[in-house]
Amino acid sequence: MNICFLMYPWDEIDPENDTSLALIHECVRRDHGVALCSPANLTIRNSVTNAFCTVINRMDKVPGSLKTFYRQASIREEMLPLAGFDVIFMRANPPLDPLMLNFLDSVKDDVFIINSLQGLREANNKLYTAAFGDSHSNIIPVTHVSKNKKYLVQQIKESKADKMILKPLNGYGGSGVILIEKSAMSNIKSLLDFYVTNSDGTSNYVILQEYIEGADQGDVRILLLNGEPIGAMRRVPGSDDHRSNVSAGGSVAKHTLTKEEKALCKQIGPKLVKDGLYFVGIDVIGGKLVEVNVMSPGGITYMNKVYKTKVQCQVIDFIESKVLDKLKAFDRRSRLRSEVENA
Ligand SMILES: Nc1ncnc2c1ncn2[C@@H]1O[C@H](COP(=O)(O)OP(=O)(O)O)[C@@H](O)[C@H]1O
Ligand SMILES: [Mg+2]
Repeated sequence: MNICFLMYPWDEIDPENDTSLALIHECVRRDHGVALCSPANLTIRNSVTNAFCTVINRMDKVPGSLKTFYRQASIREEMLPLAGFDVIFMRANPPLDPLMLNFLDSVKDDVFIINSLQGLREANNKLYTAAFGDSHSNIIPVTHVSKNKKYLVQQIKESKADKMILKPLNGYGGSGVILIEKSAMSNIKSLLDFYVTNSDGTSNYVILQEYIEGADQGDVRILLLNGEPIGAMRRVPGSDDHRSNVSAGGSVAKHTLTKEEKALCKQIGPKLVKDGLYFVGIDVIGGKLVEVNVMSPGGITYMNKVYKTKVQCQVIDFIESKVLDKLKAFDRRSRLRSEVENA
């Protein structure tokens, strides 16, 4: 099969830790055709959606190590029609460009897109956790989303907790996630001005969230495929930061899912599948769902290191089975059509 990874450019890949590279590597190892295209390189040519792609040339022998594969792989540039691919694997970093999805709308019936366009539209920022309708905060921490600074200040003042988390809707890798302490109330208005109001007069929504006790011991990243957990790890913050993201200095350790975490996956899995969110990374602290990452969830390379596994194999098995289902349905319909035509 042929797969187009819609993501950052080939030379921006981190060959040591990149989950996208692990997925690409597994595809090349299985002799699938692989191309990369950055969202800015989608083009409509004579009413056909094309992509300026970086195509990975077939290799006689594919090295086992990611770093060696990345070093040895040779690439070429080609303009290719998107509808000719079997799979589009969305791996671009947030924020999502909604216009890019309009380019993909034209091929969504022909190509298996992971995650689905509908799912990406609904879940591309941290508001998606609200879609689980958890008004009693059983699975999601108490969360406010607003751009009304007066409301936010009031919530901080009224909260019984002495610390809270403030974060932007669209961040990733821990960027802009700050711990605010009630004892430092004199800073809060200035912080909100900075987060909410832009210099051009526009404004941003922010998330104000209950600080989950125990977060200093780390959070848990769980990867879900088709609604089921396929890997998990604990991320422990560095000594000088409250965030557990590896890109913010966190370190990684093994983690066996607790009963509570398994129940959480069972509870959210069916909705994720229904929304076409087949490959997702969730962040969990103290059994509560902090974030659902659907754009370019990472963690595979770290899980592989601590568990000596290859989590990417399950993901590629899954997309192969989806493509096979599509081909079977197409064959069946062709057979039935010719039966009718020849009648
Ligand atoms: N409510 C919270 N309580 C405690 N720590 C939190 C909370 N929200 C976020 N954090 C910390 O900040 C990190 C990044 O937050 P997250 O919401 O996952 O945003 P990002 O998209 O930047 O990863 C988390 O992994 C966790 O360590
Ligand atoms: Mg996160």
